[in-house]
Amino acid sequence: MSAVKKIAVLTSGGDSQGMNAAVRAVVRSAIFHGIEVYGVQRGYQGLLNNDIFSMDIRSVGDIIQRGGTILQSARCLEFKTLEGQQKGAAILRERGIDGLVVIGGDGSYQGAAKLSALGIKTMGLPGTIDNDISFTDYTIGFDTAVNVVVDAINKLRDTMSSHERSSVVEVMGRHCGDIALHAGLASGAETILIPEVPYDLNEVADRMRQNFEHGKRHSIVIVAEGVGRGEDVADALKERYPSIDPRVTVLGHIQRGGSPTPFDRNLASRLGDFAVRKLIEGDSNKACGVINGQLVATDIEKVVKTKKDFNMEMYELAQRLSQ
Ligand code: ADP
Ligand code: F6P
Repeated sequence: MSAVKKIAVLTSGGDSQGMNAAVRAVVRSAIFHGIEVYGVQRGYQGLLNNDIFSMDIRSVGDIIQRGGTILQSARCLEFKTLEGQQKGAAILRERGIDGLVVIGGDGSYQGAAKLSALGIKTMGLPGTIDNDISFTDYTIGFDTAVNVVVDAINKLRDTMSSHERSSVVEVMGRHCGDIALHAGLASGAETILIPEVPYDLNEVADRMRQNFEHGKRHSIVIVAEGVGRGEDVADALKERYPSIDPRVTVLGHIQRGGSPTPFDRNLASRLGDFAVRKLIEGDSNKACGVINGQLVATDIEKVVKTKKDFNMEMYELAQRLSQ
């Protein structure tokens, strides 16, 4: 006997590649288990606008390979208020919807926790490119974003080495340097500036100078947006060592687009199906993740309160290998 009869799914906050694969998995897994499933358009805003529609097997055809989200995403201030949350829960109840899968980041998870306190069974799926959610090794979209960055750096390297130049590449990651770290190690960047590790631009400039003196003719500096603007880092380096004259590339929202990698599609598919099974079992207020290959469900409050572990070993390796 399933603990839920009708469930809904929404995507919220910044979108990420693989959200569509997660929506597909939620819809098809629910239908497989004999549960009615509804889509909510534009996140919590759509919930408050009662923008909710029935989904069937075919409604999620041909989306596993698409970036973005067919359900669209939005930020909704009203939903941060108790009145907004009560209105959202009432709309779901009126429709007989007793479970909700929320695909998004930290903020979206907090909304799910509030709905759960109001009697709606909720499950969160980590949909964000930043990889800044605890109790999961990876978030949906992170792998694709890292691929986008590495691909861009490969291209930059071509022209930078022809001209013996340095390149400063600004990548996303407001509070988390994982995109910078993983892309930096994979692309052999000389310097990785991230919010988790203090840095000294004098040392960075000195190292670049030494490298040039020892015959290195180009270098890549990756700056996570959480530490500041790439443009400012480039100016500061040039001030300390004028002949560097770095070129700056801000990758911006390109990192959030494109077809999800197989890794992200499979992560999204596993997590979407897992969330539905958890709801069927009667579980609620949980964030779904994958740790060491195993599917896990952790209390949303615990996930939101816990800062994700930083992989210092990987950071030190990137430094050692970038001589
Ligand atoms: P993300 O989910 O990517 O972290 P946001 O922080 O913008 O993105 O959150 C997405 C939406 O989740 C917000 O627009 C709001 O509707 C809802 N939300 C965020 N924080 C809360 C909160 N503390 N309580 C209830 N809803 C919230
Ligand atoms: O939350 C993911 C993220 O990609 C951050 O790294 C970035 O700062 C932010 O979204 C930008 O989102 P938007 O332009 O949609 O506000």
